Amino acid sequence: MPVLEQEPAKGLGSKDGLPKLPLPALKDTLDVYLRCMEHLLTEEQFNKTQHVVEQFGAPGGVGELLQSKLMERRDTTANWVYEYWLNEMYLNNRLALPVNSSPVMVFPQQHFKAPIDSLRFAAHLISGALEYKTLLDSRALPVDCARGQLAGTPLCMEQYYRLFTSYRLPGPERDTLVAQQSSVMPEPEHIIVACKNQFFVLDVVINFRRLNERDLLTQLDKIARMADSEEELLPPIGLLTSDGRAEWAESRSVLMRESTNRDSLDMIERCLCLLCLDDASGLALNDTTQAMLMLHGGGVAKNGGNRWYDKPMQFVVGADGCCGVVCEHSPFEGIVLVQCTEYLLKYMIGSPSKLVRAASVSELPAPRRLRWKCTPEIHKLLASSADKLQRQVKNLDMNVHKFCDYGKEFIKKQKMSPDAYIQVALQLAYYRCHGRPVSTYESASIRRFQEGRVDNIRSATPEALAFVKAMTDGKLSTNDAEKMEMLRSAITAQTKYTIRAITGMGIDNHLLGLSKIAHELKMETPEIFKDEAHLISNQFILSTSQVPTTVEMFCSYGPVVTNGYGACYNPQSDHIIFSVSSFRESSQTCSADFVKSLVQGLLDMRDLCNKCNHGSNPTQQTQGQTLETHTQTDTNWPNKTPQRPNDLTKNQQTVPQVLLKTPDQTKVEAQTQTSSQEEAQALKKGKKA
Ligand code: COA
Repeated sequence: MPVLEQEPAKGLGSKDGLPKLPLPALKDTLDVYLRCMEHLLTEEQFNKTQHVVEQFGAPGGVGELLQSKLMERRDTTANWVYEYWLNEMYLNNRLALPVNSSPVMVFPQQHFKAPIDSLRFAAHLISGALEYKTLLDSRALPVDCARGQLAGTPLCMEQYYRLFTSYRLPGPERDTLVAQQSSVMPEPEHIIVACKNQFFVLDVVINFRRLNERDLLTQLDKIARMADSEEELLPPIGLLTSDGRAEWAESRSVLMRESTNRDSLDMIERCLCLLCLDDASGLALNDTTQAMLMLHGGGVAKNGGNRWYDKPMQFVVGADGCCGVVCEHSPFEGIVLVQCTEYLLKYMIGSPSKLVRAASVSELPAPRRLRWKCTPEIHKLLASSADKLQRQVKNLDMNVHKFCDYGKEFIKKQKMSPDAYIQVALQLAYYRCHGRPVSTYESASIRRFQEGRVDNIRSATPEALAFVKAMTDGKLSTNDAEKMEMLRSAITAQTKYTIRAITGMGIDNHLLGLSKIAHELKMETPEIFKDEAHLISNQFILSTSQVPTTVEMFCSYGPVVTNGYGACYNPQSDHIIFSVSSFRESSQTCSADFVKSLVQGLLDMRDLCNKCNHGSNPTQQTQGQTLETHTQTDTNWPNKTPQRPNDLTKNQQTVPQVLLKTPDQTKVEAQTQTSSQEEAQALKKGKKA
C-alpha cells in the first residue's frame, strides 16, 4: 500500500466520524502515472513524458511546491479535491446534459392497460418519493456500509441530502450547483409535473398535510386534462435545458427579462423533483430503445421537451410503459441514485396502492400551469436547441445486452473479483475491436472519506494488455496455462488498483489537485499538464462504471468523448447487464460490434477458466448463449400506443398492474391494485367536491 503523507488519526473528527481524504505521496502518484501511460504511448512520447515527469518531481521542483500547497488545503478543507473535482467533472463542462452527462435508470417496462394506469403508477412512485424525502429530512436513513472490496466501513451520506434539494444553474462559463437551505418552517413543497411539454406546479404539502397517493392521482388527472387543452399550449421551453450549458445560460438570461418567466423558473428551480408524464413514443420498446428514450426523450417529436435537465431527479412515466429516472449527475453518484430508486420500487412492491381504501378525496386546489412569455428571440433559441437535440438523437448508438451465460457467482468461484474480471473483459473487447489499448476510466467510490465522491481506476493496465494480446494474437503461441496466468495477473493488477483508488490513493484526483492549485497560484501551467501524454491520459475512450442493482432495472449513460464508448454494467449472480453507448458520427466506434466482442471475450475467458481450473467447473448453467445482442422482444406490444387520458371514466374496465421484479426472480409480481371503475367513481366525486 502507498504511504500516507498524513497520519490517518489526524484526519478523523468530522461530524460523521469519517476520515479526511488522504493526499497520496507525490512520488507515488508520478510513478503510477508513468506506469499507467507507458503502454498507451509511443516510445518517443513516453521518453518525453518520463523526462517531464522527472523534472516535475525533482527535489525542490514545482511538484513539491504544489504538493505542499495541497497539504495545506487538505488541512483546511473537509475534502481537498471535492471542489476541484466537481468543477472539472461537471460544472465546467459545457456539453449538453442529455447523453453527455446525465445517467438514467431504466425500470422494467410497465404494461399499462389503460391510460389511467400510468397515472396511478406515477402517483404511487411520487408517494414513495415523498416518503423517502421524509426519511431524508429526519436524517433517518441508515448509514451505508461498503460492500465488496474492503467491506464494512461506513460511507459518507452527504450525497443523499442533495437528491431533492439541489439545482444545477447554467452559467456562461461555469454552472453552479445550488443547494436549497432547509429552514425551521419549511415552505410548502412542490414538484413539477411535465406533460405534453407543459409544466405544472403540484403542491405536495397543502395546509401542512402531505398529499397521499389518492390525492396525487387526483391532481395528476387534473394535470393530464389541463395539458390536453390545445388553446393553452405553450412552447416546449424544457428543450432549452437540453442545449449546451453556455447556450442554455444565454437563453435563460433572455427568459429572465420577463417577470412571468422569472416566476416560472423560480418554481422549477425550487421544486423537489420532476415527474415527466411522457406520451407513448411509438417505438417498439426493448431495453435498448428504453435506454435511448430515457437518455434523450426521443427528441422534439417525442418527449425531448418534456424534461428539465438541470433538476437532479426526473421521474419519467411513459404512457407506453417506458419508465425510469433521468438524473443530473453533479450532486451525487449512480450508487446513491440506485439506493433511492430501489427504495421507491420496493415501496411500490411492498406497499400496495392505497387508492382503493381511500374513502373520499379532499378538496384540493387545481395544480397551476407555468406560464412563459415567449418573444421571437426565444422561439429562435428553441428552434436551435431542438435541432441540436435532434442531432443527439440521431447520433446515439445504444446497445443494451443481457449476458446470460454466467454472472458473478461463476467469477467468484474462480476466486477472482467479479468487477476486475469484467474490466479485463472490457479491455479484451476494446482490443478485439480496435487493436490497441486506450485510456480507461472506471468509477471508484471514495465515500469512505468525508464528502467523498469518486476517483478513477485506470483499468487499461499493462497486465491487461499482455492478456488481451495473448487472447487475440493468433501468431503468439501462448498456451492456455500461460494465458490463465496472464488473466490472473491482469485481475490482480486491476484489484490492486481498485484498492488504491477506493482508499483515496488514486492518481487522477491527485494530478487534478496539483494542476488546479498551480492555476490558483497563477503559475504558468507546469509542463506535465501540457504534455501530450496528459491529454491522452484524460481522453477516456472507454468510460466504464459498475452500477449494481437488487431490483430489476439498469443504468445507462453516454460516452464522454466523441470516439469513445460508455459501458455501464450491472453484475448479477447468474447474468450481467451491459449498457454500451457510442456516437454514430464517429467512424471508429460501433456499439453492436463492441458488445459482440465483449460476449466473445466473456465466453473465451470462461472457457479458459474451465480448462485451467478443473474441479470448480461452475458453468453447467451456461448453455445457449449466442453472439446476438439480446433485445427484449415483447410480442404483446400493441401497434396502437395508448394516449394520455382525456377522461378517466372511459377506462373503467382495466385492472392496473405494477410490474416489478428482483433481478433473480423469474416470475413477475403483478401487483393488482384497484378496479378502475371504483377509481373513476371516487375521482368523479373528488372533482365534484
Ligand atoms: N474471490 C471470491 N470473491 C471475490 C473476490 C475473490 N478474489 N474478490 C471479490 N469477491 C467478491 C466480493 O467479496 C463481493 O462479494 P459480495 O457480492 O458478496 O459483496 C463481490 O465479489 C464483488 O466484489 P468485486 O467484484 O471485487 O467488486 P466491488 O463490489 O468491491 O466493487 C468497485 C468494486 C470499484 C465497483 C466499487 O468499489 C465501487 O467503487 N463502486 C462504486 C462505483 C460507482 O460509483 N459507480 C457509479 C458511478 S456514477
